[in-house]
Amino acid sequence: MNRFENWFCASSIWRRITTKHLLPWILSGTELGEHVLEIGAGPGAATEELRKRVTRVTSLEYSHAFAAGIARRNLGTNGAVLVGDASALPFSQETFSAAIAVLVLHHLKSQELQERAFREIVRVLRPGGAFLAVEIQDGWLNRIGHIRSTFVPVAPATAPERLSAAGFSSVSVAYTGAAYRLRALRPF
Ligand SMILES: C[S@@+](CC[C@H](N)C(=O)[O-])C[C@H]1O[C@@H](n2cnc3c(N)ncnc32)[C@H](O)[C@@H]1O
Repeated sequence: MNRFENWFCASSIWRRITTKHLLPWILSGTELGEHVLEIGAGPGAATEELRKRVTRVTSLEYSHAFAAGIARRNLGTNGAVLVGDASALPFSQETFSAAIAVLVLHHLKSQELQERAFREIVRVLRPGGAFLAVEIQDGWLNRIGHIRSTFVPVAPATAPERLSAAGFSSVSVAYTGAAYRLRALRPF
């Protein structure tokens, strides 16, 4: 992540956009169940709102600093946080009722790592569990926004095939403005 991303993801503006607009849209029509895995939680813009909606939230974050911040805010709540890598999830199979990744997939450094992450997410979801991801598309503005950062965009047209190859079923793509949502289910 570059300085702009670090600032923006920790800002009250992004937290408000996430809680008031993004999450209601991402989650509409999906039953999360009781234990949600939040992948790449960052400074935690979505974490507290997810905690309000389900019994347990486990957040996974690559950055120690971001994870430490979430751990402080999680104290005494239904949230837990771990430092880890989305492409090698430190959880047993069938642990979670749902998984969510907001603006994380394009931060994985290659398509191969993204696909490894998809397979890991299938593994840790319970049968019928939903994976929800929000992503941005390739384009000059998003490339500029990721200078000195990682930007490996997931082309939405290829996502259903890639997620199905990883073991998901019922993959769908929905668009809002510059972003899009992926929804996929771990088959029964
Ligand atoms: C653009 S931020 C989004 C953060 C948060 N989801 C939000 O919406 O505010 C991307 C996050 O993914 C994390 N990340 C990058 N690579 C990761 C990996 N391999 N495993 C887990 N998290 C990762 C970054 O540290 C960063 O916090």
